[in-house]
Amino acid sequence: MKSVNASVDEKRLWDDLMALASFGAREDGGVCRHALSREDIASREWLIGKARERGYRIAADSAANLFLTRFGCDNDLPPVLAGSHMDSQPAGGKFDGAYGVLAAFEALRALDDAGLETARPVTAVAWTNEEGGRFHIPCTGSRAFVSGKVPEPDQTDEEGVTLADALKRTLDAAPDVERIAPGFPVHAYVEPHIEQGPVLEAEGLPIGVVTGIQGVRWFNVTVTGEPGHAGTVPHAIRRDAFQATLRAVSALSTLMEDPDDVVRFTVGHVSVVPNSPNTIPSSVRFSIDFRHPERGVLDARAARIADLIAREVRPCTAEVAMTTSMQPVVFPDQITGAIAKAADTEGLKHRALASGAFHDAAHIASVCPSGMIFIPCRGGLSHHPDEWATPEHCAAGARVLAGALAQLAA
Ligand code: GLV
Ligand code: MN
Ligand code: MN
Repeated sequence: MKSVNASVDEKRLWDDLMALASFGAREDGGVCRHALSREDIASREWLIGKARERGYRIAADSAANLFLTRFGCDNDLPPVLAGSHMDSQPAGGKFDGAYGVLAAFEALRALDDAGLETARPVTAVAWTNEEGGRFHIPCTGSRAFVSGKVPEPDQTDEEGVTLADALKRTLDAAPDVERIAPGFPVHAYVEPHIEQGPVLEAEGLPIGVVTGIQGVRWFNVTVTGEPGHAGTVPHAIRRDAFQATLRAVSALSTLMEDPDDVVRFTVGHVSVVPNSPNTIPSSVRFSIDFRHPERGVLDARAARIADLIAREVRPCTAEVAMTTSMQPVVFPDQITGAIAKAADTEGLKHRALASGAFHDAAHIASVCPSGMIFIPCRGGLSHHPDEWATPEHCAAGARVLAGALAQLAA
């Protein structure tokens, strides 16, 4: 019988990746699969069907996190978990998140096909709403798993649907799936993912052993002004919420300047009310995404944001709310070591590198030893319809994952 690593089937994994990408496929080759949308629900059904064929235990918690478990010899032992998320950015690609879930599922099948019995159960997981594209609190599922409750269930999407209702619809669509409480003891967590950066491709390396994840702060800002006629109201007495927003964003860009180019600062979501060419904007809502590997830098600059915005938007007013605060995470040697050892066993070259993107692993790391495996992606592109990884690299990452899971669950 083949070893577990050799039982990873490159074609099977690739076919699954392409099949999952058909749920929410965009005409430009990308994927739009918002969390808890019709497309997300359909993709869950598809994966549940595949898990059923394998006889895995299928369960979901109140955050609609989906757990597919291959039994171990002692199912009272906390499982080893691996996976990622199935939601995508609105103009996302085929691999961000999807790769991690399907590489984990492939690793389970490889354990089966190799006839390997593990002491612990091994669970493939799909976390809910990692991206935060529809409901603007990212990593909803992994946060719920860690805290035991869904964060802000009353928050709404652009159409006014609450997170609670979207979760209910998703769970109701799979009535046969066992319901479990969020949060249970986990032995270890490994998340495979495309790198989303250019390093592995540039260095010709198939595997990244992720050392940690930089910290993130998200803010929602609402600037309030006064509507009026675009042709008649003199500028001297206007309270134009959009012009005020421009001043605030420009001052924020200056605050975030960094000669070392380590700080990351993005205003990616802007909505203008009433959004009409000939009415002075009465209010603007915009997002701030700000990241750095050091908590001190995050705290110091974040502390200046609200005052700076209040000053710049005058005579308008602003409300500033921090919606997300993820601290920088360093992954333990136990997991980075298991991943490096699995890559060595496969004869796959690897290097250590830190993650600029956040991941569910940043949250799960607070409840069990966690780590991540990166594979290269073309041009370092992600959050982009052209996101791409090769079948060979996808399979290499899954082989490393299977080897690491076999060690951790042995
Ligand atoms: C994850 O999608 C991130 O924005 O880092
Ligand atoms: Mn992701
Ligand atoms: Mn992403």
